[in-house]
Amino acid sequence: MLFLGVNIDHVATLRQVRLATYPDPVAIVPLIEKAGAHGITVHLREDRRHIQDQDVRRLRECITTRLNLELALNEEIIRIALEVKPDEVCLVPERRSELTTEGGLDVVSQKEMISRVVTRFHEKGIKTSLFIDPDISQIEAAMQTHTDMVELHTGQYAESTGSIREKEYRRLCEGAKLAASLGLQVNAGHGLNYENTEKIAHIPELHTLNIGHAIVARALFVGMEAAVREMLAIMQKARNKGENL
Ligand code: PXP
Repeated sequence: MLFLGVNIDHVATLRQVRLATYPDPVAIVPLIEKAGAHGITVHLREDRRHIQDQDVRRLRECITTRLNLELALNEEIIRIALEVKPDEVCLVPERRSELTTEGGLDVVSQKEMISRVVTRFHEKGIKTSLFIDPDISQIEAAMQTHTDMVELHTGQYAESTGSIREKEYRRLCEGAKLAASLGLQVNAGHGLNYENTEKIAHIPELHTLNIGHAIVARALFVGMEAAVREMLAIMQKARNKGENL
């Protein structure tokens, strides 16, 4: 079984570019859950460029699947997360000038600090994930922080073509295998779309894919429910093929 977490940041982006009251990211949740998605992901950024504090609080009240809150190692946001109590958090690196999350978290150089943050979330019963590149050293360091999960960064795979994409794909396959062998739940995400997700869905160790931009964009043409169902069908097809091999 491969789970889908739908990232709804860019529903809020559409609202924030006009500082309007719509579209409301909370109002889209029932459509996503009705379509069969397994969770909702949002990133509360330091600059609040899309999701706002109030959105996270309201989402906590209405989500019937799972709320995954992405956040940087920022004390103010960590406190909000501890108070709101999402089902899980994903620690991500963040730079104000970036268009989106550009690279994985450097766990190796911040291992002790990340371990302390992981412990604080565990004390509140919140599961943790670390968004990392599929590097052996980062995966091993992640395991040492006692995180429950890692999310492997698929951005380099998604943005490349030809032999480089093949190489990135192999890195993801090997990274997923290593992380699973260390007892971590292995998720993946970033830059996944209706063209490049099937190959990723074939990686048997993956538990959840977190996908946002492509689904929100597709929803403009077919509606949110259909956009989610189409992505789930791609993921399911890949898994069925794998099981029949
Ligand atoms: N996973 C993480 C950790 C992310 O930061 C993002 C982007 O916010 C995503 C998944 C979703 O990426 P995309 O919007 O490209 O599908």
